Amino acid sequence: MTDVLSFIKNELELKAYKESYLMRRVNARMIRRGVKSVEEYLKLLKNDKEEVTALKDALSINVTSFFRNPEVWQRLKEILEENDEPLKAWSAACADGREPYSLAMLCHETGHEVKIIATDIDEDALNIARKGIYRASSVTNLVKELSFIEDVERYVETDGEVFKIKPQIKKKVTFIKHDIIKNAPPASDFDLVLCRNFLIYIEPEFKPIVTENLYLALKRGGILVLGKTESLPVEGYFEAIDRVNRIFRRV
Ligand SMILES: C[S@@+](CC[C@H](N)C(=O)[O-])C[C@H]1O[C@@H](n2cnc3c(N)ncnc32)[C@H](O)[C@@H]1O
Repeated sequence: MTDVLSFIKNELELKAYKESYLMRRVNARMIRRGVKSVEEYLKLLKNDKEEVTALKDALSINVTSFFRNPEVWQRLKEILEENDEPLKAWSAACADGREPYSLAMLCHETGHEVKIIATDIDEDALNIARKGIYRASSVTNLVKELSFIEDVERYVETDGEVFKIKPQIKKKVTFIKHDIIKNAPPASDFDLVLCRNFLIYIEPEFKPIVTENLYLALKRGGILVLGKTESLPVEGYFEAIDRVNRIFRRV
């Protein structure tokens, strides 16, 4: 492995990420910075924190939104509405928290009591998540993201560009640092697990361990939601409820 890859994998905690994917982004950043060799780029990464941030952004590893892929949330809503039992949920690889807060709002809409454990490997993302304060920008249209919910001001306080999750939603979510590949799941009695838009970045050899961990996290009959373009070796572990929207049931 080249030095630049081992630096990125270790320092940015991206050990399972596809090397071809990491190198494509490194090359794009090198062109952007006018750097001619990977050795020079490695020096830059080691000495310039802003380049580390720029690389992380280029890797899109923290990209998320409220109600990402609204059609999936619509299907999940219909599935949850089949009963009104309290729910225990895990948002795995939750990034800055918009996914678990979306789930907390959805459960309020469907009349479910819910406790959500939301985890990520990235402490910076978790710190934003714990605050529950988001800023709209030219690239982040929070009004549009939140338009899935009617009267969203019941859950989110808005002050100009700043969107603040209200305490009634915040208190349903607990954020914990956790590595989906290395650590055991945070519990083994979840009714619902969301693990979305994380698998697309990782080497196939890590997928069986993720399948195992997601299986161990869920109760029998519990629901798993993956990202819209993601797949896992689910045979024997999960059966599809909705293949298009990547919603599964644990066997
Ligand atoms: C693209 S975001 C997905 C956020 C959200 N689930 C969504 O679909 O919008 C991927 C997240 O995976 C996290 N991540 C990467 N490797 C991880 C690991 N081994 N364990 C837990 N989280 C990880 C990153 O820090 C990032 O926040």
